[in-house]
Amino acid sequence: MNQSEYIKLLKLVRTSIEEYKNWGEDELVLDNSMLSKKAKQEPIKEEKIAVKATESKITKQENIQMKTTEKKEPTVKQTKQTKNAEQKLEDLKKQIAECKKCNLGKYRLNAVCGSGDPYANIMFVGEGPGFQEDHEGKPFIGRAGDLLTKIIEAMGYKRETVYIANIVKCHPMKNPENPELKGNDRPPTPEEMQTCQPYLDEQIKIISPKVIITLGASSTRALLKTDDVISNLRGKFSQYMGIPLMPTYHPAALLRNPKLKRDVWHDMQKVMVLVNKKG
Ligand code: SF4
Ligand code: URA
Repeated sequence: MNQSEYIKLLKLVRTSIEEYKNWGEDELVLDNSMLSKKAKQEPIKEEKIAVKATESKITKQENIQMKTTEKKEPTVKQTKQTKNAEQKLEDLKKQIAECKKCNLGKYRLNAVCGSGDPYANIMFVGEGPGFQEDHEGKPFIGRAGDLLTKIIEAMGYKRETVYIANIVKCHPMKNPENPELKGNDRPPTPEEMQTCQPYLDEQIKIISPKVIITLGASSTRALLKTDDVISNLRGKFSQYMGIPLMPTYHPAALLRNPKLKRDVWHDMQKVMVLVNKKG
């Protein structure tokens, strides 16, 4: 390796360490054998960094090989069965926009169906639209949404290549008479979630993702039919509609307590291992 390649490599390592430190990771292992063999044959940008997930339950073999630059977008899966997923999601969106099955429908400004790639491999399920989402009709666009975008990008994806939805499609408000009031959000009730869940089930059926990630206690408890706390549920795969489901903390919880980022990062590593295994 010549000097300029060496400097490039050092810069790359530094950027990676900064990125992983952001997620609470404190150990990063560069695989020497891989470097010495490949450094001569491939440009520096193709070097891979092995992230050692020391405290998660990921085994050594499962350590994720991540490209630290020019992360490849996962290929869009377009099978015959999901060919008209766009159209099906559009039809569902219209249905949801008209829905008044529960009280949330009376006061919402906009129903928030979901957004992203209809053929996504990864589907995130949050709690419900907040103030900003209600105003704009899009999921996760507030501060928690910005953090979710960062999580998705740290996983090597773009927001548009995953699908983001919520367990309820209309804004749950403490004081529904006043949708213009900030700080008026509340979690959806079990009844509201149960009433709305068929829409999410339909979205899951249409998108048929490889993995579902539930964000926070509400969606996790609703889908897994449990009252357990999110700190017990997170980090362990379950199944929903035959699809692996990984619960993790809600990004809003990470804003309140940044120390939880480390756990979320470990949960996302497990998801990445699974998605990569499934090809
Ligand atoms: Fe319909 Fe769901 Fe909105 Fe309730 S929350 S009105 S069930 S779309
Ligand atoms: N929180 C959620 O759970 N969903 C959103 O869409 C926004 C914030």
